[in-house]
Amino acid sequence: MKQGEPAIQVSIKQKVFPAIAERPEQAVLGGVELTVERGSFVVLTGPSGCGKSTLLNIVAGLDTDYQGNVTFGADTGKLSFMFQTPRLLPWRTVEENVSLVLDEDCKDAEERVAAILARVGLSEAANAYPERLSLGMQRRAALARAFVIEPDVLLMDEPFVSLDDPSADSLRALLIELWNRRPTTVLFVTHDRIEAVMLATRLIRLGGRPARIVQDSGVDLSPDERLDREKVLAWRMRLFESA
Ligand SMILES: Nc1ncnc2c1ncn2[C@@H]1O[C@H](COP(=O)(O)OP(=O)(O)OP(=O)(O)O)[C@@H](O)[C@H]1O
Ligand SMILES: [Mg+2]
Repeated sequence: MKQGEPAIQVSIKQKVFPAIAERPEQAVLGGVELTVERGSFVVLTGPSGCGKSTLLNIVAGLDTDYQGNVTFGADTGKLSFMFQTPRLLPWRTVEENVSLVLDEDCKDAEERVAAILARVGLSEAANAYPERLSLGMQRRAALARAFVIEPDVLLMDEPFVSLDDPSADSLRALLIELWNRRPTTVLFVTHDRIEAVMLATRLIRLGGRPARIVQDSGVDLSPDERLDREKVLAWRMRLFESA
């Protein structure tokens, strides 16, 4: 793997959803050109309905009906996707939900699952079923499942919405810790500007219809500064309120 080599290259000429019943055809994305550097934490933001999830689904390969292409660099084969809802299997325990994503021939599966559950603070809930967990704990389990494969690319679509502030803050701190331990290339969608500043090394704003990139800014904060409220608020002002 070469430093500075792009991990993901996105070139979307156009993404149109066809007309359904009364709803006319919709051109959602147009001219989105984005090179994601290896190891960067790219936060995607923009108004509701502008096409953020559509873009993430295209990058994930879940939507192939568009004009353009997405290419991945070397060593980007392991991809995790964390959705807005935790999407845990209700008939499996926390531990089983996490181990499910590992290859069958993974030799140290048990150790890896135990280690990641300890890191996200769920060791004691390992044998619990998802319905017994709070939403915050379910999100921790989903985070453990995303990280247990040691992904090269991590796609996250508003993974911390509708949590109370302390739970969301502790998950963000956890994500920063996991990412610092093992940097991976992240594309993270959020509406939350504080969250965007806390996490991003690069902030991309989408806007217009069809959407294109209207802002592309670096966020130069150290891991400690990302947990410092004043620093984060200053950067939020700089990124979102100076225009
Ligand atoms: N399967 C679909 N069929 C038709 N239209 C769709 C489909 N999925 C999304 N759209 C439309 O495409 C546009 C972009 O949707 P998308 O979900 O990507 O927005 P978003 O930026 O993620 O919004 P939000 O912030 O609310 O999650 C919206 O107008 C939406 O109604
Ligand atoms: Mg969305």
